[in-house]
Amino acid sequence: MARKFFVGGNWKCNGTVKSNEELVKVLNAAEVPGTDVVEVVVAPAAGHFPQVLSSLRKDFSVAAQNCWVKKGGAFTGELSAEMLKDLGLPWVVLGHSERRHIIGESDEFIADKVAYALGQGLGVIYCIGEKLEEREAGNTMAVNARQMQALADKISDWSKVVVAYEPVWAIGTGKVASPAQAQEVHDELRKWLSANVSPEVAEATRIIYGGSVTAANCGELAGCPDIDGFLVGGASLKPEFVDIIKAAE
Ligand code: G3P
Repeated sequence: MARKFFVGGNWKCNGTVKSNEELVKVLNAAEVPGTDVVEVVVAPAAGHFPQVLSSLRKDFSVAAQNCWVKKGGAFTGELSAEMLKDLGLPWVVLGHSERRHIIGESDEFIADKVAYALGQGLGVIYCIGEKLEEREAGNTMAVNARQMQALADKISDWSKVVVAYEPVWAIGTGKVASPAQAQEVHDELRKWLSANVSPEVAEATRIIYGGSVTAANCGELAGCPDIDGFLVGGASLKPEFVDIIKAAE
């Protein structure tokens, strides 16, 4: 079964109304493969949802970068999964390493968020990845397996989950994982899914790579058999994001 290529642009806490207008204009004018070949999602900051939702081409989707762990209410500052649905956002990024290591969200808290968001009908881009010291200690797969297990303990339907392997040491550093490094972990993650969830889920689940992806390095990464796309940070704020989308071809 062919897994449709998936390219996400995580704009993080960046952008102004003006800069978003310019970026959306570039994206709207881009000639990219059809939706039968590649699924494109952009994740603006929450304050920019209405602007991006109303102006972005309709063959691209909009994602939130986070959402609350349960139904909305007295949770100041949070955005509920119901609100994202109500606003027309079909996707949400959860478990990003910046949520884990800067904000301090635990594996279980993130897994509960994923379960709730899926329960509300959202698609989830579920981020995992090891820190440099964990890799250097030989714990790369132990860390990623732990983060996968936290989710497997909470959900049974993986059909709307995209797993984003984002080695923390490659995020925002310019130190992209080599194709061999990335493929090795993606292969291990697919094997983990096959052994711990099911061979069908392992075959169907998109496992995408994130961490210093650029127009220059995306082609070789895209050629790896278990890399089903990208989650892009810095480069998604630039016209080169279009070249990264074209790596799906
Ligand atoms: O979520 C994607 C992001 O963490 C990767 O950032 O700037 O290394 O592409 P960057």
